[in-house]
Amino acid sequence: RQNERESLLIVLNFAKTFFQEALQKSDEGRGIGLSYFRERGFTNPTIEAFELGYSFDQWDALMQEGLRKGYNRDLLEKAGLILVKEGADGRSPKTFDRFRGRVMFPIHNVSGRVIAFGARILKTDKSQPKYLNSPETTVYHKSQVLYGIYQAKQTVRQEDVCYLTEGYTDVISLHQAGIKNVVASSGTSLTTEQIRLIARFTPNITILYDGDAAGIKAALRGLDMVLEEGLNLKLLLLPNGEDPDSYVHKVGAEEFKAYIKANSKDFIDFKAGQWLAEAGNDPNKRAEGISDVCASITKIPDPLKRQTLSQRVAQVFHVSEQSVISEINRLLRKQQ
Ligand code: GTP
Ligand code: MN
Ligand code: MN
Ligand code: MN
Ligand code: MN
Repeated sequence: RQNERESLLIVLNFAKTFFQEALQKSDEGRGIGLSYFRERGFTNPTIEAFELGYSFDQWDALMQEGLRKGYNRDLLEKAGLILVKEGADGRSPKTFDRFRGRVMFPIHNVSGRVIAFGARILKTDKSQPKYLNSPETTVYHKSQVLYGIYQAKQTVRQEDVCYLTEGYTDVISLHQAGIKNVVASSGTSLTTEQIRLIARFTPNITILYDGDAAGIKAALRGLDMVLEEGLNLKLLLLPNGEDPDSYVHKVGAEEFKAYIKANSKDFIDFKAGQWLAEAGNDPNKRAEGISDVCASITKIPDPLKRQTLSQRVAQVFHVSEQSVISEINRLLRKQQ
């Protein structure tokens, strides 16, 4: 078992280097991949820090080089690097590279070893998924991984806060702008394991999701999970249509930091803001909103924190603290 893990990590490291060399040293990689990263504003040190690469637009370039280096087909397949399609009518099975003609984002574990890849197509065209990811393997369990944690962890500790974004390029562009305490859940909805991974380095999480409907939905989903783990949470949304990557390129690092400072909300203000915008003076909607915020408070394990937060809810919705406390208690009893 231990042996298989190590073999997979070794072959994944080989693939990472193969993709890096394709990006830096081949005409195809430089002409297509490197110019793509340039257009996105990524500098050489950034490309180096995230070990970005390129996969040739050929059926089995990686597999051929892997076999030549002595990695067998079975190992390449177990690492998620090649696909094996059964041949029809007793013909021999066809094998080919999983990642072809894409820019490559290696996914590192907390100690910096490559455990998987994310791969982006160059031109968005609706016939193919924008990102392809490695499948689950012995070394890659996507629910337990945060993109960028290896590059972020030292700064997360220093700054005592971790920014949580949606995507690979959000992590990379913020890192390049000097905001290095940033990770991404990469398209999966946030899991308890991912939150516990952050908690190894800081108890403070700021959710920084795209300013679109999907971003709001994801933030609301992640919110209760973070509270359940007893961590401190702030949230903010980017202006509509922006994500951290596009916005930091638009306004620059200093204005981006100022935006975070001015717009970070605690979960009560964040949720109340969503509800009050919708409810206006409709008393039923307001009551629904209060109950919804109280439901999040019940997730917090520390009773003292719950107590102090109920005062804030009362202020925000202009109701008595007693009514908030009794709603929290009602919901707590219901959960037992
Ligand atoms: P760019 O277009 O390169 O800036 O990517 P993005 O990170 O802004 O993408 P988006 O906001 O659409 O999605 C956020 C994250 O979800 C991405 O970084 C990916 O990790 C993941 N994702 C997006 N599209 C796909 C897809 O088609 N398939 C898979 N498996 N994941 C995706
Ligand atoms: Mn496992
Ligand atoms: Mn989005
Ligand atoms: Mn995005
Ligand atoms: Mn983007």
